[in-house]
Amino acid sequence: MSASVSNSEFFDEDHQTGTYDLRLISRLIPYVRPHIRLVFLSLGVLMVSSLVQLVGPYLTKVGIDDYILRGDARGLLFVAFLYLTTLMFEFLFQYLRVYLLQLTGQRMMRQLRVEIFDHILRMSTSFFDRTPTGKLMTRTIQDVEVINELFTQGVIVVFGDLITLLGIASVLFWMDWRLALVVLSVTPLVVLVTAVYRVNARDAYRGVRLHVARLNAFLQENLAGMTTVQLFQREEENFRRFDRMNQDTRDEHLRTIFYSALFFPCVEVLAAGALGLVIWYGGGRVIEGYLLPGVLVAFLQYMRRFFQPIRDLAEKYNIFQAAMAASERVFGLLDTPEDLPDSPHPRFPENPRGEIQFQDVWFAYTRNDWVLRGITFSIKPGETVALVGATGAGKSSLIGLLGRAYEPQRGEIHIDGIEVRSWGKEELRSHVGIIPQEVFLLSGSLLENLRLWDIRISEDRVREMAEAIQVDRLLRNLSGGYGTEIRERGENLSLGQRQLVAFVRALLYNPSVLVLDEATSSVDPATESLIQGGIEKLISGRTSLIIAHRLSTIRRADRILVLHRGRIVEEGTHRVLMARDGVYRRLYQLQIENQNRHQSGDPVPGKS
Ligand SMILES: Nc1ncnc2c1ncn2[C@@H]1O[C@H](COP(=O)(O)OP(=O)(O)OP(=O)(O)O)[C@@H](O)[C@H]1O
Ligand SMILES: [Mg+2]
Repeated sequence: MSASVSNSEFFDEDHQTGTYDLRLISRLIPYVRPHIRLVFLSLGVLMVSSLVQLVGPYLTKVGIDDYILRGDARGLLFVAFLYLTTLMFEFLFQYLRVYLLQLTGQRMMRQLRVEIFDHILRMSTSFFDRTPTGKLMTRTIQDVEVINELFTQGVIVVFGDLITLLGIASVLFWMDWRLALVVLSVTPLVVLVTAVYRVNARDAYRGVRLHVARLNAFLQENLAGMTTVQLFQREEENFRRFDRMNQDTRDEHLRTIFYSALFFPCVEVLAAGALGLVIWYGGGRVIEGYLLPGVLVAFLQYMRRFFQPIRDLAEKYNIFQAAMAASERVFGLLDTPEDLPDSPHPRFPENPRGEIQFQDVWFAYTRNDWVLRGITFSIKPGETVALVGATGAGKSSLIGLLGRAYEPQRGEIHIDGIEVRSWGKEELRSHVGIIPQEVFLLSGSLLENLRLWDIRISEDRVREMAEAIQVDRLLRNLSGGYGTEIRERGENLSLGQRQLVAFVRALLYNPSVLVLDEATSSVDPATESLIQGGIEKLISGRTSLIIAHRLSTIRRADRILVLHRGRIVEEGTHRVLMARDGVYRRLYQLQIENQNRHQSGDPVPGKS
C-alpha cells in the first residue's frame, strides 16, 4: 500500500476474475470448516426441501386423473390430505433451510469480524495515518456482510436451484416427453435474456456500491467534524457536495432498477409464452385423447417453478461478483503485515532503572522528509528533562519513537541499555508511561477510563492514585463521581479534566520512565494548579521526559533540550541557556509575553 491512499484506490471495487476467484474462495474455506457439520445439514435440508417441492404438482395430477375423472370422492379426499401434509413438510423444511443457513453464516461472520478487528488492533500508528477510518469501517461491517450473502444466498442456494431444475425437468420428461420438449424450447431464450441482464446489471451494481461507499465516507467525516463544519459555516457547501453525491447514487440505483425492471417482465413474458404453448399443444393432445388432463395441469404448475431458478441465477452471479470483490478487500487488509512486529525474543531488564539514550536518530513520516535529524542525547535514571521547541519542531514525533508508535529510519534508541526494538511491546508500554498531548477517552464510565478496563486494578487503588495527585475531589465532584458516563471521545469532560484522567492512568501502571506531552491549551487557574501539582507527583522518583509548554515545568527540569527543526540545538539548565542568546531565550521570551497577554485576558491561544 502506498503512503497516501488516493480516493480511487480507496473505493476501488474492481478485481480480476478467473483463477484469482478460486484463490479467494480457497481462502474463505477455512471459515466454513469449523461449521462443516452445519453446512452439510443445511445441504441435506436444502435437497429434501427442493425435492418436497416436486410432490405437490404431481399430487394434483393424481387427484385429477385418478380420482376426479373416475368420480372417486373418498380417494380425492385422501389425495387432498396428502397434499396438505406435503405443504406442511414444505413449510418445515423451508424454515429449517433459512434458519440453518443464516445460523452458519452469522457464526462465520462473527469469526471474520473478530479476526479483522484483532488485526486492526495490532497495526501501527503509521498504518492509521495512511488508512481512512471509513475504509476500515467498510471492511469490518459491510464487506463481511456481503461475504455472508455469498454463503446464505449464493453458493448453497444455487445448489438447491440446480436440484429443483433437474428434478422438474426429469418429472416433466417422465410424464410426457413431447410436452417437456415444448417447455425446454423456451429455455435458451430465457438463458440469453439472463446473460444480457447479468452483464449490464453487474456494472450497475458495482456503480451503486462505489457511490454508497463514497456517501458513507463523506457522511462519516462530516459527522466526526460537525463542529468544524458549523463553526466555519460550511453547512451549505457540504450540503451541496452531499446532495451531488446523493444524486449520483440515486442515478446509479435507477440504472440497476432500469435493468431489473426490464429483465423480470421479459422473463415473465417468456414464461407466459411457454405456458401458452403448453396449453395450446398440450390442450390439443388432451382433446385428441393422447394426454390426461391432470398431466397438463401438473405441467402448468411445474413450469411456474421451472423458470424461477434460471431467473435467480442472474442475481446469484451479482452476489458472487460482489462477494469476490469484498473478499479481496478483506483479505487485502488481513494480509497487510504489521509494520512494527513484536521482537521474537523480547528482552527487558530485571530491575528497570529508567535510562534513556538516543543515538543519531533520524526519522521521517514520508520518505526523506526528515522530521528528526541526528538526535543524540541521554537521560540518567531519575532525571527530569524538558524538551522545548517551536510548534512542528518534532517533539511529539520524538516521543512517538520512544513508545514505538513509529520506527526510526536510522540510529538507535535504548532504554536501560536495551534497544526499544528488542523490548517486548507489553513490557515497554508498562515500563514507559506516555501521556499524549491529546487525551483520548472511550465511552464508558470514568472509573473504567481511569483503569482502562483492567479489572486487576481495584477501585480503591484508582482512588488512592487520584488522591495522591489530589484530583480525586475534582473527579468526585463530577455529577456521577467515578461512575460518570463518559461520552464518545470524552466530550463531556473539559480538556483539563481529561489531562488529569491521563495522569491517574499513567500513575496506576507505576512506570519507571514517564513521558509527558504537555497539552498546549490553557486551563483555568484552579485546574492549572492541580495539573502542576499532578506533574510534580508524577515525575518524582522516576525518569521523566517532558515536552514542556508551561514555564513552571520548564524551570523545574534538571536539564532542558531545545529542539529546532529536527535537531537538538541547545542543551543545559535554564540559567545556562538564558545566558546564551539563542533559540531557547527567544522561545522563553515569547512564552512569557504570551502568558502575560493571556493573564490580562487577551484571547490569544497560549501556544509556544
Ligand atoms: N502523522 C504524521 N504524518 C506525517 N507528518 C507528520 C505526522 N505527524 C507530524 N508530522 C509532521 O512532523 C513534523 C513534526 O511534528 P510534531 O507533531 O512532532 O511537532 P511538535 O513539535 O510536537 O509540535 P507541537 O508543539 O505543535 O505539538 C511536522 O512538520 C508535522 O507536519
Ligand atoms: Mg506535539
